[in-house]
This record gives sequence, C-alpha cells and structure tokens, in this order.
Amino acid sequence: MSARILLVEDNQAFVENLTEIFEGQGHQVRAVSTCTKAREAALGWVQVALVDLKLPDGDGTTLATQLKDETPDCEVILLTGHASVESAAEAVRAGVWAYLVKPCAVPDLLATLDKAIRHVNAQLEKRELGRRAQVAEKLAAVGTLTAGLSHEIRNPLNAAGLQLSVLERRVRRLEAGVQEPLLEPLTLVRDEIRRLEHILQDFLQFARPLQLTMKPLAPGPLLQKVLAFIGTDAERRDVTLEADFSDAGATLGDADQLRQVFMNLLLNAFDAVGAGGRVRLSVDTSGDAVSVHIDDDGKGIPPEHLPRLFEPFFTTKTKGSGLGLPITHAIVTQHGGAVTASNGPLGGARFTVRLPRAPKA
Ligand SMILES: Nc1ncnc2c1ncn2[C@@H]1O[C@H](COP(=O)(O)OP(=O)(O)O)[C@@H](O)[C@H]1O
Ligand SMILES: [Mg+2]
Repeated sequence: MSARILLVEDNQAFVENLTEIFEGQGHQVRAVSTCTKAREAALGWVQVALVDLKLPDGDGTTLATQLKDETPDCEVILLTGHASVESAAEAVRAGVWAYLVKPCAVPDLLATLDKAIRHVNAQLEKRELGRRAQVAEKLAAVGTLTAGLSHEIRNPLNAAGLQLSVLERRVRRLEAGVQEPLLEPLTLVRDEIRRLEHILQDFLQFARPLQLTMKPLAPGPLLQKVLAFIGTDAERRDVTLEADFSDAGATLGDADQLRQVFMNLLLNAFDAVGAGGRVRLSVDTSGDAVSVHIDDDGKGIPPEHLPRLFEPFFTTKTKGSGLGLPITHAIVTQHGGAVTASNGPLGGARFTVRLPRAPKA
C-alpha cells in the first residue's frame, strides 16, 4: 500500500536515511525541516506525517494539531529524542497516532507507519461509503418525488403541445405578412415545450427502476450506432468527433441503456468543448474490463466539482437538468461497472466507463 508521507525533521542524515527506506517501500516522500514548510507541504497531500518533537521554529505537538486540522484524514507520528510523561500526554491530547522515541529500530518504525497508513485508508473508505450512501438516499427520495410530479406535468404539457400545433397550422394559413410576426413567438414556445419534454423524459427515466435486458454485447457495434446517431449533432455543433476502437472484447449488457450512457457522456462533451472542439471516443480492452474513454479538449472539470458530478441536479449549465450523469452512473453500476471522471489527456475532461468482460462461453 503506497502512501504520501511527510517527514518533518531537521536532522539531515536521519531524513536521508528514512527517505531512502520509505521510497524503497514504494511510498512518496516529502521532507522539510520547519513547521512553516511542513504546513505548506502537507496541505491536501499528506496521509501520514512523521514529525520531530523539537523543530527550529516550533514544537511538533502544536504542528500535529495544525496538520490534522488542515488536512483531515491524515495521521501524525511524533518522534522524540527524549521521552517524558509530559510530552507523551501532550502528544495524546494533540491527537497524534503514535509516539516513538529516537533512536527507534527501523522495523518498529515501519510497523507503526504501516498501521497508520491502514488506519488512514480505512477512514477514507468509510467516508467515501458514507458519501455514496447519502447520494443513494437522495436518489431514492428524488426518484419517488419526480415520478409523481412528472406524470402530473406530462398530461397538461402534451395538451399544450397539441394545441400549439393546431395554432401553428392556423397561422400558416394566413397571409405571409401577418404570418411572420406570429410564427416567431410560436417557435419559441414550441422550443420551450420541447425542452420541458426532454427534462421530463430525464426525470421519468431517472425515477423508473431500471429494467435491464442483459445480452452478450460487443462494444464496437454499439458505439458505431451511437456515433451514427450523434454524428449529425457533432457536425451541427462544429465538433470534431474522433473514434478509435477495434471490435475487441465483449461485455454483458443492455444495449439500449448503454447507448443512453454514451449519448449522455458525448453530449456533455459537446457542451464542454463548444464549436471548434474535439471529442474522442476510445476503447481499452486490456485487463479484466472493457473501458470506454470519452475525452474532450474543453475547459475540464474544476477539482472542487469532481466529487459532486454524479449527484442528482448538480449542473453548471443554465439550461441543464443535472440528471445526465446520475442516470449514467445508475445504469453503469447496475451493469456491475463503474464510471469515473477526471481531467484527461486532451486537456479537458475524461469520462471512463468500465464494464466487466462477458464470461467466456
Ligand atoms: N465533458 C465535461 N467537461 C466538463 N464538465 C462536465 C463534462 N461533463 C459533465 N460536466 C459537468 O457535470 C455537470 C453535470 O452533468 P449532467 O449530469 O450531464 O447534467 P447537465 O448536462 O444537465 O448539466 C455539468 O453541468 C458539467 O458541469
Ligand atoms: Mg448532461
């Protein structure tokens, strides 16, 4: 298990020695010799800090409290030359994970470090599980509510749409001069009704429990269909759509639902890049999964948005529903797969859909 370790120690020889040992174990190490530098180096990065009790610009116990405040989920191991009951008690109050007396045997140090890393990872996992449970709960509540609401809205909206086409037909029978000023607002209303229908469709799809029809599926033909469907969109929006996949690897899935997944991700990418942008679809069949990447050269995703992307109603678009990614997430996880977002090789976002391989027949 590799971890990010901060060494705060002013004994250069000791630092070099430890760095070599830790790096040899596959850890990433940052070494600093003062409290000030330690706080800078630690922020948002550190998982375990090894801190000397006596530092040139302060004491390790105070630093421990600060580090734990500033980077939650990190643990501090305090190293000291002279053990005393007072300093040990203070260390406990500061919430340090362990207290070691120098010179300490390397195996002891490594064992303590290992325990601290395990603890940090367990905490992180617990937090992530909690977050996922929260999202799932929100999804369920939203589902029941929107299902009811959407049905209520759909009927009057259909009626309004029908009456609007009646109106449009009548207007088109009028003389050209009278027609034109009437048609413009009519078109606007029609577009808005279409938009509402789309949102409603998203809502309903989101609320309905997914019924998957799983069949052996090659990603190639599926993605070809998606491309055929969405190609004109790309042209209209002046987006260069590149596809790079051969027909390898098979998965088990529901073709209609998976099509929806890739449409959602591609449409988002089109939104992100705008006219003149580039979107690339590629498939990686190495390893135990079939991974489909959707890369774009848009503005990317700000790090603070990354954990929220899959939450229902999270959107940064004025006309977005914020349901595309939660729907995508629901479909993919029901396939036993995973969808992830990051910033990718084209400079914009990368969304990856990993689907398990179909069992060999
Ligand atoms: N390719 C992308 N590049 C940058 N941001 C993205 C991309 N795809 C999705 N996002 C972000 O995720 C948000 C949620 O997406 P989604 O759930 O599909 O809802 P919507 O498209 O209605 O906003 C978007 O508003 C956008 O901020
Ligand atoms: Mg979307």
